[in-house]
Amino acid sequence: MKIDILTLFPNMFEGVLTESIIKRAIKDNKVEINLIDFRSYSKLSNNQVDDTPYGGGGGMVLRCEPIFDCIDDIDPNHEAYRILMTPDGITYKEQMAYELRDKKHIIILCGHYEGFDERIRTLVDQEISIGDYVLTGGEIPAMILIDSITRLIPGVITSTSLDSESFTDNLLDYPTYTKPEEYRGMKVPEVLVSGDHKKINEWRETQRIKRTEERRKDLLK
Ligand code: ADE
Repeated sequence: MKIDILTLFPNMFEGVLTESIIKRAIKDNKVEINLIDFRSYSKLSNNQVDDTPYGGGGGMVLRCEPIFDCIDDIDPNHEAYRILMTPDGITYKEQMAYELRDKKHIIILCGHYEGFDERIRTLVDQEISIGDYVLTGGEIPAMILIDSITRLIPGVITSTSLDSESFTDNLLDYPTYTKPEEYRGMKVPEVLVSGDHKKINEWRETQRIKRTEERRKDLLK
């Protein structure tokens, strides 16, 4: 799969792409991630990409031309699935990560500054928000998409890790423990050291339901 990120701040992605699981996925050709600084598509002096809003008001607004020209260039026939990161998009969920994982080519457009020209919305297939709060730009939200999608690509992480994790089936994950068996008076639940795998699985399933009821009743609907 290929992911193109359109951003004015490609350096922000340093680290996310050069460490840990995402780094390995790129190295193993499971995913290709390109950072495209759309400032280079500006035809204005000083490579300007924003301007003051019509009707007045504070802040600068991202202009249409560099974004339209950039997308015309990298996806002339609209074959890619195009996403705009914006707080007024639909709220991102694990199910959406699974759907995006199955796309061949995704373009993620990061908004920045105070906003963007409304006509930019006509370019995209989906507008996504990562939650009900406003960030300085779409870069961190784009990183969240990259991370959540890449880890679902077959072979990127061991698939058993995905089997029962939070949100895949509307239940939160079960509690896990490792050595030592007792730490500062806190003991590992006996069932986990019993060696009885049927009992362990039953316990885990019960814990998932209990934890979801306690913390996220909304998921059980
Ligand atoms: N840009 C700024 N805030 C955002 C959010 N919550 N989700 C997606 N993009 C954003």
